[in-house]
Amino acid sequence: MKTQKTTILDIRKAKQEKRKLVMMTAYDYPFGLLADEAGVDIVLVGDSLGMVVMGLDGTVEVTMENMIHHIQAVVRGCKGPLIVGDMPFMSYNISIQEAIRNAGRLMKEGGCDVVKLEGGVDFAPTIEAIVKAGIPVQGHIGLTPQTASALGGFKMQGRDAQAAMNIIEDAKALEEAGAFSMILEAVPAPLGQLVAESVSVPVIGIGAGADVDGQVLVTHDMVGLFDKFIPKFVKQYTQIRPIILEALGEYKKEVQTAAFPAPEHSFKMSDEVLEQLKSELKS
Ligand code: KIV
Repeated sequence: MKTQKTTILDIRKAKQEKRKLVMMTAYDYPFGLLADEAGVDIVLVGDSLGMVVMGLDGTVEVTMENMIHHIQAVVRGCKGPLIVGDMPFMSYNISIQEAIRNAGRLMKEGGCDVVKLEGGVDFAPTIEAIVKAGIPVQGHIGLTPQTASALGGFKMQGRDAQAAMNIIEDAKALEEAGAFSMILEAVPAPLGQLVAESVSVPVIGIGAGADVDGQVLVTHDMVGLFDKFIPKFVKQYTQIRPIILEALGEYKKEVQTAAFPAPEHSFKMSDEVLEQLKSELKS
């Protein structure tokens, strides 16, 4: 557990000190507590909650209200790590004014420390304006799940030299706009390294190889709680679905056979009160 709150200065310093940053997602109070106890650097309340918590097919339908609700829950449990609130699709795409208003809502109503939004060069003016309004921004380039259909699906990005160059340009534009760090998703590992070398702010990879400044994974993927679709870049550190399923099966069996609840799970009544109650019932 971290005793002091992580700040964006700590995150920037990590790159200068060549210390890899550890980032994970959380969507509720119990996982907020776990992230805190594990002592990770950054917790992302990601719009991936649309898929792994709400059962949607993607992130497009996630609303500002969904995000605020889940950020509030994580913030209650997670005190040390820097908490990033993800800006949902269309909360920053329509106008810069709306983007600033919505980034402010995630911070004021949700309680996160910083916000994240997806997009490269085209979104640099939006990032610049949000940062100028006093809200730190983390960028997200490479595969951007909110606009995956425009990218041809959930596919690796930066395949040819031009596409790879565009991603490097995106990273530079984000840094220039004032982003304090950025997520780089689903690109070839050598491109991950080149992007990290092209900017002075930390580049946190998800499917971007080992030579970036840190890693992030969707927690429900890495602990085997969500296995509908497992991207190539996910490592499952444990499988908790079978453990939970075994417990649920045991519970079901014990309820059906009246083995649960046992006396130690039941409240007592004194013999005197019981006798009195029974005699009143008879009269
Ligand atoms: O929403 C999310 O969880 C993300 C990660 C994939 C980085 O954006």
